[in-house]
Amino acid sequence: MWLASGITSAQMGKTYGILGGELCKDETLDKAFPVLGSICSQTTGIVALSFVIWVIRPILPHLALADVVNGIPDSAPAGFDQWTSPIVLPAPNTTGQNGWASSVARARAFVAQLTLAEKINVTTGVDTGASSRCLGNTGTILCLHDSPIGVRLTDFVSAFPAGINAASTWDRDLIEKRGYAMGSEHKGKGVNIVLGPGTNLARVAAAGRNWEAFGADPFLAGVATAASIEGYQSAGVIAGTHFCGGSEAKQVESSNIDDRTLHEVYVWPFAEAVKVGVAAVMCSYNYINQTQACQNSKLINGVLKEELGFQGFIMSDWAAMINGLQPALAGLDMNMPGFIGYGIGDQDQPDPSTATNSWWGSELSTMVNNGSLSETRIDDMVTRIFAAWYQLGQDEDYPHVSFTQHGQQTFSADGQLVNEHVNVQGEHYRLIREIGAASSILLKNTKNALPLRVKNLKRIGIFGSDAAANPDGANNCAGGATSHGCSQGTLAQGWGSGTAYFPYLVDPLSAIGTHIRSINPTVVVDAVTNDFNLKAVSDAASLADTCLVFVNADSGEGYITVDGNAGDRNNITLWHGGDNLILTTASRCANTIVVAHIVGPVLVESWIDHPNVTAFINAGIPGQESDEPEWAVAYTMAKTREDYNADVLYTSSDPVTQITYEEALEIDYRHFDAHDIEPRFEFGFGLSYTTFVYSGLETAPHPRRDADHTTTSAPGTAASPVNPVGGPTELYDVVATVSFTIKNTGPIAGNEVPQLYLGFPASVNEPPKVLRGFTRKLIAAGSETRVALDLRRKDVSVWDVVRQDWVVPEGRFEVMVGSSSRDIKLTGSLEF
Ligand code: BGC
Repeated sequence: MWLASGITSAQMGKTYGILGGELCKDETLDKAFPVLGSICSQTTGIVALSFVIWVIRPILPHLALADVVNGIPDSAPAGFDQWTSPIVLPAPNTTGQNGWASSVARARAFVAQLTLAEKINVTTGVDTGASSRCLGNTGTILCLHDSPIGVRLTDFVSAFPAGINAASTWDRDLIEKRGYAMGSEHKGKGVNIVLGPGTNLARVAAAGRNWEAFGADPFLAGVATAASIEGYQSAGVIAGTHFCGGSEAKQVESSNIDDRTLHEVYVWPFAEAVKVGVAAVMCSYNYINQTQACQNSKLINGVLKEELGFQGFIMSDWAAMINGLQPALAGLDMNMPGFIGYGIGDQDQPDPSTATNSWWGSELSTMVNNGSLSETRIDDMVTRIFAAWYQLGQDEDYPHVSFTQHGQQTFSADGQLVNEHVNVQGEHYRLIREIGAASSILLKNTKNALPLRVKNLKRIGIFGSDAAANPDGANNCAGGATSHGCSQGTLAQGWGSGTAYFPYLVDPLSAIGTHIRSINPTVVVDAVTNDFNLKAVSDAASLADTCLVFVNADSGEGYITVDGNAGDRNNITLWHGGDNLILTTASRCANTIVVAHIVGPVLVESWIDHPNVTAFINAGIPGQESDEPEWAVAYTMAKTREDYNADVLYTSSDPVTQITYEEALEIDYRHFDAHDIEPRFEFGFGLSYTTFVYSGLETAPHPRRDADHTTTSAPGTAASPVNPVGGPTELYDVVATVSFTIKNTGPIAGNEVPQLYLGFPASVNEPPKVLRGFTRKLIAAGSETRVALDLRRKDVSVWDVVRQDWVVPEGRFEVMVGSSSRDIKLTGSLEF
């Protein structure tokens, strides 16, 4: 396929020559990849062996590993003894249940024809050097590529609003459309597997990668993850997520999480992903209970594959593996990007099956030959990978890879066509704008400051570097950092691998200027975009009737440090002297409107109650376009940093930092509720330009399907059969419906997001309220609508660690319906 786009046959030989043998005789593949015939006649690629790894292996960190075979878990450092992860063996084979039967059968038939070397070529990534096209390449057919906001590192693509903005819309349909649009762009460029969406929860306010994912609540993140995956996969790409429990950017940490919290909080969104048929999952860099995520047999074999019945494949995060045999036994199916570590040895060995700079590659053959790993485990790895490929229909007319991760230039240094500049943007800018608007959160609005009445404006002051374009260009950084690893100009995405190039970036200053001129061309627009020229700000503010102050706070992935922030933010205050900019403006301008482009919560106490700060919009990080505010915050904004119960652990003397999730179930608003701490803006809060009245709550339990308050099938144990996809089907039965009426009593149409929270019976020690339903409704002025929210059995269950099962507790559930986690409008009860 790449041949057709101008890649030379010599290069193809390097890429595809490793196929060889039986694979070249396979008709399925011949059909899917018509160039295979010519490729198969190429000589096997050059095998560039690197022995460096043998030299450095002994000094690689964290090699004091569990004895998986003998069931001995990784040990914990003193004081953390209870935080170990049990060994769960064997790795369950894919079963083909729940809609996967045909794909698994086809994959099995195909895999049966492969030699061991060919199978290894599918499990182990290859070709990450200068000639590689995607961030991950495997099986000589699969392109794995970032990111959760667009196709990374190439051109003619869209830069979508971040995951945190998607969650802030509280709109499942919009989130699914976003997934579909991003999936279409990836497919259009030839990407098979998108490395997204980000699914980790925002446990810690300052955590660097929070913006890539869907906020601080497992239910909201679960809905957003499932909707995104449905979107991606209906466009035809395989979606991957980060599994699991990585809450900080430093990545070599043991997230010590108890079993109940793991199930009810951190695995929850992944279960929703599996339930909707996610075809690929990525394990994370962090350790969970001392065991690195990619070799955590409890999580991969036990939870993901048995309990949740996951039928797809699990790949490692990039160079996350720290061992070869353990991940293979623990259920890992694909090693990405193939080499052992960044900067370690040869990064670009052309034949995975003989590669020596890999935890797998030739090592897998050795493991099979010496009996430590059965070939059937490798068969299942490859079956899962091809089952996912068939499941998404990627064997039919899939676009070829038409870009390279190494730049936007058309030809490589040696004259090969590497970027065909395929334009995949379509009309996505419309959706981006819609989500940008739906995810901008109005947090304060006094004196009718918003919406702006442009007709009445005479003179407006616009302040802050965040209002303006990046002087080095939207995708550049002074000093040359890549992947948006700097904070210059308006902030529309964070930094790291979760990024994409802007095709253009609508900066607020130009957009507002154009908007104002289209309505009232005589308005004087005074802009000061130097955050520290407070004299100029003050002078302009004193003349203006309305002032807009743009401020921001940035964060990203830990491999880039920006202004001393190594991924995670060092503080949760505004960047670039934002507080001073606001206070200087407000001291001279009676109508000061603050717009914040922020990756997560910031402290606003020094100015939020200032009488001249009339309005505050949290616009998140909206991607290439931005618009009017609409909905609600997907995390708690506290009054002080200390009000949060979890924080980044910046330094530690442990070889593997120990981060114990002592707060257990009390993530975010659950903690504020449980300890009666008043937040500045609570989870789920967002103002509207209109008003709503709630009434008529009804709670209707549905007939029971079982007698003993438990699910009918226990989750898998090592030797038990794999559960249906997503877990026991009874867990997803609707057990009750909560309905109520919302009337728009204001003057204009508006969106409302009713939120359903449950208070569990006291005996089970849940936090005071947990989100279990929401929807977003556009209601015309004066109209009312009846809303019905279903509760599934899982929504009213707790994870019983002794029974290792979901259990519906006896007793009274409090039903709370409101427009935020603290603005409860209706209450009722339910019993099961
Ligand atoms: C990140 C992943 C990303 C991968 C490839 C890793 O560092 O954690 O999210 O997909 O790199 O760029």
